[in-house]
Amino acid sequence: MIRFIEGKQIYIRAIELTDVSENYLRWLNEPDVTTGLLSGTFPSTITELQSYVEQKINDRNTVMFAICDKSTNRHIGNIKLDNFDWISHTCELGVLIGEKDFWGKGIGTEACTLAIQYAFNILNIRKVLLAVYATNIGAIKVYEKLGFVNEGTLRKHIWSNGNYIDKHFMGLFKEELKQ
Ligand SMILES: CC(C)(COP(=O)(O)OP(=O)(O)OC[C@H]1O[C@@H](n2cnc3c(N)ncnc32)[C@H](O)[C@@H]1OP(=O)(O)O)[C@@H](O)C(=O)NCCC(=O)NCCS
Repeated sequence: MIRFIEGKQIYIRAIELTDVSENYLRWLNEPDVTTGLLSGTFPSTITELQSYVEQKINDRNTVMFAICDKSTNRHIGNIKLDNFDWISHTCELGVLIGEKDFWGKGIGTEACTLAIQYAFNILNIRKVLLAVYATNIGAIKVYEKLGFVNEGTLRKHIWSNGNYIDKHFMGLFKEELKQ
């Protein structure tokens, strides 16, 4: 298995069309996984997922990685950098650990660290931005641990599980990364 960037528990590598599987589809149809994401709003199908991944692979303004468990090579989630601005040297980060047994083991933090270091050191990005729902406590904890700070909030902007909730934008400059 090609390991593009290796961490302690995981490695990340380019996502491939063959990664579109029943498992990956299950992640996107599971409310616990999608509650903090736009992705869960509509049911996902294999066909949609195939065209989504194909589009990301072909999009020069997106780098999408599969997150794999080092000991088993199992595909457990995805992480992507997109919306690159090559003038201002910024981009956006999105992460999803789809296999819930892998939550709470430091893997979200590790995957974000690997992708962000790649953005800063290899792609010459200066600042990484992300959007997160205020109710996504786990994700906010990960981002704050890495050094992200809230740069603005859209108040009661998202309809989620019966309520309008806030959406935060968080940013991290290269020199602020804590890992
Ligand atoms: C959010 C997500 C990436 C976190 O990944 P993870 O591997 O579980 O996170 P980590 O194990 O690295 O946790 C880092 C810290 O956050 C805490 N944490 C993680 N999830 C938590 C939760 N749901 N509630 C409270 N704390 C949580 C951990 O305890 C840990 O704290 P510590 O360093 O003090 O021990 C993962 O749950 C996920 O992919 N969820 C579904 C998709 C999603 O919401 N993505 C983010 C969209 S913005």
